[in-house]
Amino acid sequence: MKITLSVIKADIGGWPGHSRVHPDCIEVARKNLEKAKKKGVIIDYSVLAAGDDLQLIMTHKKGVDARDIHKLAWDTFELAAKKAKELHLYGAGQDLLSNAFSGNVRGMGPGVAEMEFEERKSEPVIVFMADKTEAGAWNLPLFRMFADPFNTAGLVIDPEMHGGFVFEVQDVIKHRKVKFSTPEEVYDLLAFIGAPSRYVIKRVYNKKGEIAAVTSTEKLNFIAGKYVGKDDPVMVVRAQHGLPAVGEVMEPFAFPHMVSGWMRGSHHGPMMPVAFEDAHPTRFDGPPRVIAAGFQIANGKLIGPVDMFKDPSFDRARQMANEVADYIRRHGPFEPHRLPLDEMEYTTLPSVEKKLEKRFEKI
Ligand code: 13P
Ligand code: 13P
Ligand code: MG
Ligand code: MG
Repeated sequence: MKITLSVIKADIGGWPGHSRVHPDCIEVARKNLEKAKKKGVIIDYSVLAAGDDLQLIMTHKKGVDARDIHKLAWDTFELAAKKAKELHLYGAGQDLLSNAFSGNVRGMGPGVAEMEFEERKSEPVIVFMADKTEAGAWNLPLFRMFADPFNTAGLVIDPEMHGGFVFEVQDVIKHRKVKFSTPEEVYDLLAFIGAPSRYVIKRVYNKKGEIAAVTSTEKLNFIAGKYVGKDDPVMVVRAQHGLPAVGEVMEPFAFPHMVSGWMRGSHHGPMMPVAFEDAHPTRFDGPPRVIAAGFQIANGKLIGPVDMFKDPSFDRARQMANEVADYIRRHGPFEPHRLPLDEMEYTTLPSVEKKLEKRFEKI
């Protein structure tokens, strides 16, 4: 049976500031998706929150970019934003950048990661959800999962994985995409994805062309034309049986790599893997966080979520993230804690520059 897994997310208001989603908003979203499930629009759903981002995880048979599903997500965000407005939550409706739905939420503010696939006899998937960072934050962990034998033993010892994987990379500035086949083109791939603010892994396929992973790549500041919040991306990864094992999918997050985002979307900081209950960034609005929800899919039903980072084996990563956070925070407003100028272009910095423009003299 072909099913579609759609993860659509938006910041509909923070409680307080940008730290988390209010439980009343989660409840509103659950009720609306329950209604849609009863009507048969979706097979199943799970509503979660990563920091101040509301996460709608849905299964259905309508394929990717389906109008019904995007409309359902949009309506759900609007209902939750209405609740957020009642509670005067911060930035209520933050990511709902358009006021009229036109068939698809892409380009309207929400982030989208969807994949359609033939459900296997056993279908483990992990949904990763981040707050206070950008889409390119998945580049390093995805590379590790699907191309690095020091992370993924299966690349060496599983004959089904030995052939490698294909990475689809998007250039989010020039709006073009390119595919790299690994292991043959690992160095070419790295030349691009090592610049995660511009080159973002959108999808990973096995060499039979079957989808293995998909990310959300929406760039909020490009849509809004100014800084309104970070992209706070999501990623779906299928596991086992010719794909990385669940543990190989999780392993990259034992290293809290440096990502951009954090305070005002303008700082580098470590990505801290946390349990659902710890996904509310409060220190300097961070540090950036990731949660992982594990599911088995059974005839489209979502058996889960399992809180995958609620595991003491990620304690060290959390500790290291705190140490790195202490270290880099001491740079205050200096790079490389603060993002380089070209990435600050969409924050409030341009208005500061404009104000001081006339005081600059030629040298
Ligand atoms: P089991 O032997 O527990 O099924 O594990 C196999 C495996 O793939 C572990 O990564
Ligand atoms: P969000 O993108 O999570 O709303 O965070 C915005 C921000 O400015 C945090 O300091
Ligand atoms: Mg916010
Ligand atoms: Mg957020």
